[in-house]
Amino acid sequence: MRMYDLIMKKRNGGAHTEEEIRFIVEGFTKGEIPDYQMSAWLMAVYYNGMTKEETTQLTISMADSGDRLDLSAIEGIKVDKHSTGGVGDKTTFIVAPILASLGVPIAKMSGRGLGHTGGTIDKLESIDGFNVSIPEDEFINNVNSIKLSLVGQTGNLAPADKKIYALRDVTATVDSLPLIASSIMSKKLAAGADVIVLDVKCGSGAFMKNPDDAKALAKTMVDIGNMAGRKTYAIITDMNEPLGCKVGNALEVVEAVQVLGIKNVQSVLDIKQGLLEDDNFGYGIKRLLEVSLYLASYMLIGGGGADDFEEAKRKCIEAIESGLALKKLAEFVEAQGGNKEYIYDVDKLPKAKYIVPVSFGKEGYIASCNTSEVGMVSLILGGGRATKESEIDLAVGIDIRKHIGDKVSSDEVFAYIHSNNESVIEEARKRLLGAYTLSDKKQAAEAVIKDVIK
Ligand code: URA
Repeated sequence: MRMYDLIMKKRNGGAHTEEEIRFIVEGFTKGEIPDYQMSAWLMAVYYNGMTKEETTQLTISMADSGDRLDLSAIEGIKVDKHSTGGVGDKTTFIVAPILASLGVPIAKMSGRGLGHTGGTIDKLESIDGFNVSIPEDEFINNVNSIKLSLVGQTGNLAPADKKIYALRDVTATVDSLPLIASSIMSKKLAAGADVIVLDVKCGSGAFMKNPDDAKALAKTMVDIGNMAGRKTYAIITDMNEPLGCKVGNALEVVEAVQVLGIKNVQSVLDIKQGLLEDDNFGYGIKRLLEVSLYLASYMLIGGGGADDFEEAKRKCIEAIESGLALKKLAEFVEAQGGNKEYIYDVDKLPKAKYIVPVSFGKEGYIASCNTSEVGMVSLILGGGRATKESEIDLAVGIDIRKHIGDKVSSDEVFAYIHSNNESVIEEARKRLLGAYTLSDKKQAAEAVIKDVIK
């Protein structure tokens, strides 16, 4: 087999056989296929796509390119969740303790942030002492004893994806449906869980900008997961504005703790657009809570803890209102060397030196948000990584108090910028305001849950 012929086949719109896909993935992983040929093939895939069979085979070949995590020593149905990436997405800190407090084992590997999306692992490191790289046996023991452990990507899981993703990143071939689906699902299959719940983001801060594309990606990933013998669900959620209010590492931990501290969940779910109650319980928190309850409910159904959505949602709400989920979060932090007092007193988390209010200087209704640009503002403040080697500032970020559809008056505070560097505040302020448009007509907010694919 020659890579030249396979590039030509894909360039001309052909479909690869199983053997051909294995040849490409194995050859590239071993360094036998050079970057220039792989780049040409990726671009051919970008333009001509892949059949369902090809995408599934690509996923399996990538999952087989390295180790597979063996979770067989963990009792019960192991459930994993994955988000396709967004801004302000801190749902893992909310759903993982909810599920663990309900007895469903969560053994999760997460990534660091790169570019405008934040990483779960970085956020956890804002808790003093928290260790994201505990040994594998401790990871398994923790899941068996407290039902929850979360570590950074370790070992040699899906090395083909690591190499292919790095090449996609520099050849403008990231946003291709079969390449995204195979990249995500190869890692999920290698990570070993029995049930996978995907949060497929849709909108201005997501890979998939419109609902049709998001649905196609979700269906492809659900099909791959189910074909590989893992029960897979996808929830399509809105990313036309950041999820919740806070964007930034420590700030997102604060917001997750706020959600797990809610005493009356229904009263928060009932919050109407524009009717902000106080700093903590506004429309942003309601949207974050809704997404978290959907993800947690499908994880609970998949994990065998409930028969249907209503039962699952009720149990997840009880886990929050009883305080057991918050207690589980503290227990998990302690088990990985962190100071659990940070969970009960979030004022201990890193704080920025400057907290600067931002207003629009004119009146109107918030009509739209360029969500990736809000992520870029966090990057400018030092909260994200421009390159893999960048150091991040855990304290900085943005706290957004108004959402699409809300009315703002000229000098009303719309957001707070948290910064440790005075010299970047003006640029951050300008870009944050530039990310939003105002209109003189009230705009309905986007529903945060768009679809569920089972
Ligand atoms: N996340 C991944 O892991 N891979 C992609 O291709 C896109 C998002």
